[in-house]
Amino acid sequence: MEINVTPTAPQLEFFEMDRMYRLFLSGIGAGKTFGGAVEIARMPPNTTGAVISPTYPMHRDMVLPTFFDTCGKLVLDYNKSDKEAYLIDGKKVIFRTAEDPERLRGPNLSWFWLDEAALMDEMVWKIMIGRLRVLPMKAWVTTTPKGKMHWLYKIFVKEANEFTGIVKCSTRSNVYLPEQFIRSLDTGYKGLWHLQEVEGEFVDFGATRAYPMFSRLRNVRKNIFQDHYNPRAPLHVACDFNYAIMSWPCIQVHPLLTQIPLESVSDSDALYSQPYVLTEVELIPANTPAMCREFRKRFPNHTGPVVFYGDASGSSGDSHGAGGYSHYDIIDKELREHYDLAFMIPRKNPPVVNRLVVTNDVFSGTGYWRPVLVDEDECPTFINDGENVLLTENGDNIEKITKQDDERSLLTHSTDGFGYWASIEVPVKSMEVAQELNDIRDMIRYGRNMENDPRPHGAGLMGV
Ligand SMILES: Nc1ncnc2c1ncn2[C@@H]1O[C@H](COP(=O)(O)OP(=O)(O)OP(=O)(O)O)[C@@H](O)[C@H]1O
Ligand SMILES: [Mg+2]
Repeated sequence: MEINVTPTAPQLEFFEMDRMYRLFLSGIGAGKTFGGAVEIARMPPNTTGAVISPTYPMHRDMVLPTFFDTCGKLVLDYNKSDKEAYLIDGKKVIFRTAEDPERLRGPNLSWFWLDEAALMDEMVWKIMIGRLRVLPMKAWVTTTPKGKMHWLYKIFVKEANEFTGIVKCSTRSNVYLPEQFIRSLDTGYKGLWHLQEVEGEFVDFGATRAYPMFSRLRNVRKNIFQDHYNPRAPLHVACDFNYAIMSWPCIQVHPLLTQIPLESVSDSDALYSQPYVLTEVELIPANTPAMCREFRKRFPNHTGPVVFYGDASGSSGDSHGAGGYSHYDIIDKELREHYDLAFMIPRKNPPVVNRLVVTNDVFSGTGYWRPVLVDEDECPTFINDGENVLLTENGDNIEKITKQDDERSLLTHSTDGFGYWASIEVPVKSMEVAQELNDIRDMIRYGRNMENDPRPHGAGLMGV
């Protein structure tokens, strides 16, 4: 049955996919409802199918108008009270809502379409596939995703098989949308929400965040640098080495209490450490010498110790064409004359899971450490990490995106560095993790103060 449309590329892919169950997954406005409605016209003549909307208003305001926009000239009759349409090729279209799934049990169907299925109960899917009893037996689902805990993820990703197929696309793929609309989404939606609402990805909020303890409310403040930076106190720099981006959080802890004899603990405020992330020294793209110059610009008058923390592999001598010098050699060479410099680099890196535990401890507060406070204006990359870094699916590693023009490739580095720092400095809540980290804290001392532990209170773990 002919109707005249020029599909977007993902719509075409969806029409051509020859699977019994198809999912058209996308950001908002990508053309899902439009594509779903066009598919009705493509079903064979003299068949009966059903179109399900989550609610009656969604049927009335979105699905039905789109059906008339696309298939209008094929409609012979539409019965508003029965919500049924008869098309010129003998097709019957039954419109229903998902509000009461049991009422969906009814006629045998050749096909059905669920629009915005993420808003429907799994029961709807189960009942509807039970109605598919007449050829060609096709079902299609159009929706914006709602996380990995949703039944759609289970059916179409986890339990995907030869009967199922997904077309996934970004809102950007809809050439019929005004450019302004897409730009407004790109600026209005950040991080995980952007991934879900614009890119059409299954993302989980909370369950798979690497730093669930990070909270803007608890950890982010204005003017932290201005109000709390002390040029005479130790300044900690948490490094991570990359090309695309380097972002080194600069931390002070007032007062720095890493080892508190348990018997001396009282409720006195003086016994609580308050960590601050004052700023982050950042370059995109980056290299280590340039980062050192940035650091000097940011801290021209620092007279207290400057202590570097970071990845153990940064001390190997093959740091990317630097003539056998390690990253820490380079930092030492660039900054030695200007600061009272020290390095706290472990011989081997802490296991990622431990690093995550400790980093979350700094966000939530741990032992006698208050929750870390991060400068809102100075540390956008760090804050973005705190909110948006994800775990890999099995939960034991950080998800890294290296694809170059993907904005997410800028994630993880800032908090990676911070995690190396935390693994050495922060008194941890979990005894088990504390014991594992004790080994790691048997660290290399490197640079000018090699022989001396640069920390005023000495290394050590509370309660261990
Ligand atoms: N192939 C096409 N030809 C012409 N216009 C199209 C086409 N595909 C989509 N559109 C138009 O793009 C706009 C968005 O489409 P649609 O409402 O189907 O998107 P959606 O993904 O269902 O959005 P939402 O997430 O809001 O439900 C509509 O104005 C629709 O008419
Ligand atoms: Mg829609």
